[in-house]
Amino acid sequence: MTAEQDRKFFDIFMIVLGILVAVAIGLYGLAQAVQARTQDAYIKEDQAVQAMVEERIQPIGQVAIAGEDNSGLRTPGAGSGVAAEAPAPAQMAADMSGEEVYNTACAACHTAGIAGAPKFGDAAAWSSRIGQGMDTLTTHAISGYQGSAGYMPPKGGRTDLSDDAVRAAVEYLVAQSK
Ligand code: HEC
Repeated sequence: MTAEQDRKFFDIFMIVLGILVAVAIGLYGLAQAVQARTQDAYIKEDQAVQAMVEERIQPIGQVAIAGEDNSGLRTPGAGSGVAAEAPAPAQMAADMSGEEVYNTACAACHTAGIAGAPKFGDAAAWSSRIGQGMDTLTTHAISGYQGSAGYMPPKGGRTDLSDDAVRAAVEYLVAQSK
């Protein structure tokens, strides 16, 4: 072989080597793209992963009410079984008495008179309101009401409650505040 042939061989050799490296990098990129579209998606659909995400995005606080069944509340760190632990609010509300609805959804404001709410049992605060009639009071409790004392949120913020449940709570609240 002449020196000229040697150089030619070396040039071709380097070109082939370059192509092989390029193909290897290409295959690596392809593998990454495929796994991002399949493997990652499978992981995100995984029940255990979803349960962990659910837990991370839980509200930071929950209110336990004395004398109520608080077993539906989750304790911090108690993961898993998300669906099983979540209470069924609509069903819960359906067979609650006025007192139970009041304790669950209204007591937070009305027992202590938070944010201008007329206090539970305070006949003086309630007499003029009761004078409006039960229908007006119930409408205000269901649809929300901005009065001079403050803002009463629709259904006390528990929009999952049925209108009947709210009416029962108003009746209980009024009966105890005459
Ligand atoms: C976030 C606090 C809050 C919660 C929870 C809440 N209320 Fe009220 N409520 C108020 C405030 C404040 C007022 C007074 C509004 C005003 O007259 O300025 C009020 C007023 C009322 C009135 C009188 C309305 C009127 O026309 O005078 C009724 C009846 C009532 N609430 C029922 C309920 C019932 C029933 C619940 C539970 C389902 C409830 N509230 C939950 C804050 C609350």
